[in-house]
Amino acid sequence: MDKPKVVLGVSGGIAAYKACELLRRLTESGHDVRVVPTASALHFVGAATWSALSGNPVSTEVWDEVHEVPHVRIGQHADLVVVAPATADMLAKAAHGLADDLLTNTLLTARCPVVFAPAMHTEMWEHPATQENVATLRRRGARVIEPAVGRLTGVDTGKGRLPDPGEIFEICRRVLARGGTEPDLKGRHVVVSAGGTREPLDPVRFLGNRSSGKQGYALARTAAARGARVTLIAANSALPDPAGVDVVPVGTAVQLREAVLRASADADAVVMAAAVADFRPAVYAAGKIKKKDGQEPEPITLVRNPDILAEISTERARPGQVIVGFAAETDDVLANGRAKLKRKGCDLLVVNEVGESRTFGSEENEAVVLGTDGSETAVPHGPKEALAETVWDLVVERLR
Ligand code: CTP
Repeated sequence: MDKPKVVLGVSGGIAAYKACELLRRLTESGHDVRVVPTASALHFVGAATWSALSGNPVSTEVWDEVHEVPHVRIGQHADLVVVAPATADMLAKAAHGLADDLLTNTLLTARCPVVFAPAMHTEMWEHPATQENVATLRRRGARVIEPAVGRLTGVDTGKGRLPDPGEIFEICRRVLARGGTEPDLKGRHVVVSAGGTREPLDPVRFLGNRSSGKQGYALARTAAARGARVTLIAANSALPDPAGVDVVPVGTAVQLREAVLRASADADAVVMAAAVADFRPAVYAAGKIKKKDGQEPEPITLVRNPDILAEISTERARPGQVIVGFAAETDDVLANGRAKLKRKGCDLLVVNEVGESRTFGSEENEAVVLGTDGSETAVPHGPKEALAETVWDLVVERLR
């Protein structure tokens, strides 16, 4: 069998040096890689390095080896194009269809899946121009990976780092395994709840939980990248809105329920990743509760909140709608998960072990996804985006 043909586009950012590691992983795992750097990328890593590591010729312009029509052939013959790092300039060119060098020509002629791994300063990434370009590329089916957070060039830190080359490699492998250009959630509407509800006691205090919303946001982002129309019901999350996703902010469990019921009326799938408070204070004090000298505090009486997951699972808004719940457990994780899957009546339950220092707020997760068909899919410790991809794989299987 021919080796899968991968085009590694490299644009002009300091993270170009990390693309050498991605290239090495791709070639060592049996891919035929053609590196297409931009002229500015060569300021960071020279053509000799790309050529030696890939075992293929390297050019940046359409004027080399013209008899082979490289500006058309390289894209046409590719099974995957991955651009790492993708600068703000490269994303803008790709979104607008400019073709002034070999890489941008290749992006226009490629009919295979395309993955962009952006890397730039936080301000450039967050700029509405870049965000709109990313949304355009995602809408067309390109996979744009969210940049990582951490140390940037110089003294700055923030969002904009090129993700770990190993992670980009894993995404490339999954995209290649799926093949074809048609994103598998195209034409689907999915609803994701994220974050943690807050139940107010008085105007300044609430009962809340430690959920950061990162897993739910990763689910929303990956669903959008797979072509879905996404409604993200976000409970008190400080995270930036994912590009191309419809975000509905909510505060309490009751508000979350209303938003979920409304959005799920025409949804193909609903994923309840939010940490919903099971109880709320029975009484909301309109004024701030004051301490009184010499008196013990009044006890707080709690009442039950509606169980949204159980409600939408028993009264499905649409036949064939796939419903996914999450279970955060501290003990007897799998046994509790199986019992909860039955009790809630959903189709899939993502079970993870939590504790003060585990999962909450972290960038990584580890889980087992239980299915009503008896299936158990273990997702090893890794980025929350990888768990999100597995959840959507399982949802897509059930939507078919
Ligand atoms: N959930 C919900 N409505 C609630 C509570 C939870 O929809 N009032 C959803 C969560 O979004 C999650 C799942 O139910 O998808 C599991 O929540 P969890 O709090 O772990 O389960 P509980 O029902 O609270 O069970 P237990 O008290 O045994 O942990």
